Amino acid sequence: MRAKATPAPFRRPMSSRCAGRDEAAAGETEEAPAEDAAAAGDLPSFTEAQVASGKAAFDANCAVCHGDTLTNNTYGPPLAGEFFHENWEGAAAADLVAKVHTMPPSAPDSLSAEVYADMAAYILSVNGLPAGTEPLTAESGGTISFAQ
Ligand code: HEC
Repeated sequence: MRAKATPAPFRRPMSSRCAGRDEAAAGETEEAPAEDAAAAGDLPSFTEAQVASGKAAFDANCAVCHGDTLTNNTYGPPLAGEFFHENWEGAAAADLVAKVHTMPPSAPDSLSAEVYADMAAYILSVNGLPAGTEPLTAESGGTISFAQ
């Protein structure tokens, strides 16, 4: 039987991405109310339709490792909860879409760009981000934040 502990390699350094983001955010005020931040495009936007289609694609392609609740993972790291939040808080939405494109590890980029974006939307939704009107794409702006 495989031990269930999360192996150390899952803790990847995020420093390169964080450096660029901090520079970009340097001029922004932190006191803006949450709804203003969302309206200004700070949070990534994705649609309910993406969440539904992303869940179906995730269950078919990803749940075998990451779990169908995103925390009952077996081989990959959890994609919701504290570990995921630590990794992705403050990250660009486009970086998450790009990361999802590297999955599954045995067949990166094997699904359509649309399906990858939908799965990223599903992951954000499970992590408590609100759906909006603009679909998420690989070119989307927006910064992931779990502090709602
Ligand atoms: C064979 C098992 C496996 C499958 C299937 C798989 N993954 Fe992964 N996934 C991993 C492993 C192992 C990692 C950690 C190493 C890495 O980041 O590349 C990971 C990392 C990730 C991460 C980054 C997590 C973080 O906090 O940095 C995301 C997001 C992700 N996978 C999404 C997906 C999606 C979406 C799919 C379906 C298309 C998928 N994975 C399919 C094993 C898997």
